[in-house]
This record gives sequence, C-alpha cells and structure tokens, in this order.
Amino acid sequence: MLFGATGDLAKRKLLPGLFHLAAAGLLPKHYRIVGSAPSKGAPSEAGFKQHAHDAVTEFASIKPTAETWPAFEDALYFAAADPDDPTPLVSAVQAAEQEIGGEPQRLFHLAVPPVAFGSVVDMLGACGLAKGARVIIEKPFGTDLASAQALNDLIHTVFDESQIFRIDHFLGKESVENILAFRFANGLFEPIWNRQQIQYVQIDVPETLSIEGRAAFYEGTGTFRDMVVTHLFQVLGFVAMEPPTSLSAKSLRDETQKVFDSLLPLDVKHLVRGQYEGYRAEPGVASDSQTETFVALRAQVDNWRWAGVPFYLRTGKSLAASRQVVTIGFREPTLRMFPLDARYLPSARLNEIVIDFADPGSISARFLAKEPGPQMRLGEAKMIFRYEDSFATANDLEGYERLLLDAMLGDQSLFTTSAGVERLWEISAPLLEHPPPVEVYAPGSWGPDSIHKITAPYRWHLPEDGE
Ligand code: BG6
Repeated sequence: MLFGATGDLAKRKLLPGLFHLAAAGLLPKHYRIVGSAPSKGAPSEAGFKQHAHDAVTEFASIKPTAETWPAFEDALYFAAADPDDPTPLVSAVQAAEQEIGGEPQRLFHLAVPPVAFGSVVDMLGACGLAKGARVIIEKPFGTDLASAQALNDLIHTVFDESQIFRIDHFLGKESVENILAFRFANGLFEPIWNRQQIQYVQIDVPETLSIEGRAAFYEGTGTFRDMVVTHLFQVLGFVAMEPPTSLSAKSLRDETQKVFDSLLPLDVKHLVRGQYEGYRAEPGVASDSQTETFVALRAQVDNWRWAGVPFYLRTGKSLAASRQVVTIGFREPTLRMFPLDARYLPSARLNEIVIDFADPGSISARFLAKEPGPQMRLGEAKMIFRYEDSFATANDLEGYERLLLDAMLGDQSLFTTSAGVERLWEISAPLLEHPPPVEVYAPGSWGPDSIHKITAPYRWHLPEDGE
C-alpha cells in the first residue's frame, strides 16, 4: 500500500523502484500494489496506471517493455482514502488480498508529508488494516525532539517497534553499506581507523539542483532537517561505528546508537547556514524566509576512538557540483627528509581515503609518491577501486529499491530506530533553538565563504574538482 502514490517521491523513486524489483524477479510471486491518495484530485485507477507508466518510463533504471509492463500494471490498484473515510481503501485491500489468496503480508509505505503521518497511522489503526502489518515511514521523522517523541508515541499506539521501518534511503546505497565491508572485512584499514591516525572526516553532499518547485516541503523543513539529521548523520554512523558482533539488525543498530549517543550537542559556533540567492523569489517561498538551503558544520563523536577528530559535514542546494563523498584525512607524518614543496601544502590533504558513495561508487586512496627523475620530489598518487570496473553492476539496486525489498523481507538492519532519531534531534537542539541567521551564497558556488572558519587551517575540499 502506497500512501502518497501520486506524489513526487512515488513518481521519482517508489513506482520506478517497485517496477525494477518486479522486472528483476525480486518481488514475491503474488503481489499487489495499492496506491492511495486523498480523494480530492485523486485519479481513476486507469489514470493511476498511466501515471505509473509515465513515472517508470521517465525514472526507472530499466524501461517498461511488452514483457515486463503488463504483469506489473495488472498488479496496480488505486483507492482514494481520507482519514474520515477509509472505506474505498479497505475494500481495495480486501480485493487485492482475495486475489493473492492465503494471508498475505501487508506493507504500508507512508510517502506523505510529515504532517500527515499521524492521521494516516490513526486511520490504519481504526480501520483494522494495521494488524500484523509493517509500515515504512518517510523522513524527516519529526522536526525536533519533542515532535519525534510525540510521533513515536502515536505510532506505537498502533504499531510496535518490530513493525516500523523508518526509511533513510542513503543507508540503502551500495557504497554506504560497503563502508561496513571496507572497514570490517579487511585487516588493512580498521587498525588505522581511529583518532591516532585520522585527523578529520569530511562528509560532503553538495547538490547542483535547487529546491525544484518543492517550496511547500522545503520552507517548513530546510536543509538541516532534510539532509543532515537524516542522511549525513546516518552515514556518519557507519563511518564511526565500532565493529558490530554480527550483521544482525540488533547488532548493527546497537552500534549506530552508540555513535549517536557519543555525539556532542552541536555547537552553533561551528556551524553555518546558507541560503542561495534567488531562493526567496521561488514560488511559495516567503520574501523574508530564514529557511536554509545549505548547512556546513562540525560534529564531534566523543568516544575513545574519535575524541578530538572533527567530522565536517556539508550539504546544500544550487551548489557547484553534485557529489556524495566521505573523505578520511590522515595525520601528516614527519616530512622533513623531503624538500618542502609549496604545491602540496597543506600536504595532509594528500593522505586521504575517499569514499565516493554516489551510485555506482568508488573508493580511492590518495598518497604521496616519488616523481620519476633524478631528484626526490613528491607527487600526488592515487589507488582506486571503482564498482563498475570491478563488479557487474547490472544487479545493482538503488537505495530505495534495496530498502523496499528489506522491508518486504522484514529485515530492519538498515532502518533507523526510535531511540536513534530521538538522540539525533536531541544533539541538534542548540541549532534548532538558536539558529544562526542564514548567509546568502551565489548559486553555482560552494556556499558562503564563512564555512572555511569551521575547518581552518584546512579548507573544505573535494577530490578531483572543486574546493
Ligand atoms: C532526499 C532529499 O531525501 O534526498 C532531497 O529530500 C535530496 O532534497 C535527495 O535531493 C538526495 O538523494 P539522492 O539519492 O537522490 O541523491
């Protein structure tokens, strides 16, 4: 059951993702997808199927064909639902379940604006559909600690924690999960993955796209809630966690929780909020809006492994490039035997492991090597692993696809817990309560200049291009 079936997320990610899973033979043998939206402006069932076809054609990684589309289309239903009148929805679910036969597992995906989570959950409880079902809840989960706690309390009146899948699609990305393999399946990296060897960690998700007409969502949300408290902190959890005892959902989520528990409350002195020039002129944006479209900050994980190592996080819209990168910077060894070469200052930059987690992803190690020639001169060198060169990427699942599949299988490993989201809101309180004013930056830039004070003496930088 897909709530918000005519919305942006369903169009760009969920319908194309479900189609890809179906075409790859990964959905259960018998399945039905019931799309739902409020009755006002809702399409007919035929209209919804056409909408799904258009979405899949435009956004799916594989295009619908005469072989793959008809079976998927046959499995699509549509039923309008309003909090005070779920009858059409209940009938559609019953019809779908009769067709499947037996006792099918129900999975609800709440791809609706956060303000609607509560009413949909209430409705599912009241009409009896929630019993034994699983529910995927989109982000942002609350807007601060109090609202996240209230939302958890409300959902827990209908679903218990084992039924709840709080989704963060960054955790479904191959290269993010690969951080666990990279760190824990090799003897090479883990021994140096600590404060003795690492000087800083930079997690960077600049985006060239603007808010793309999403003013209604963005004005009330902003970059911190949209990206940092969700995606970037979750990636930080994987980079910083201790080795889990197994890959079970419990072990993984326990270790992530320990990282979140160790995060110090954010210090607004080490944080910059930006807003791209022209944002206030976007349709639906207030002319004096203080919503940020950019955030750069320093986070600190105060535990034995990471104390004193800054985690620099940066993300924003309308920036110079679109990247998704974790950079691990290593401490500079003594370089006195090598002649100082101004080209390579500050040289610590060149001792880095760079995890590019934008699909299909790569990992590179940047180090110094001797340049050929009679003199001992150092030059930049790089070793690189690229997913597409090393493995067949045909079996790749996009973040959402992977997580939808996990939710169908009941595997909660890559989903966030109530305690996890609450802790992240808790450490965010200083920013949420006293947000510094937004600083304007030019579209196509790297954000406000003042961000460099956060990292000084180092400068924000991305490998290959940009700063
Ligand atoms: C979404 C945010 O969760 O993630 C968007 O709401 C952002 O603002 C997007 O652009 C980035 O994710 P991806 O996977 O499309 O790079």
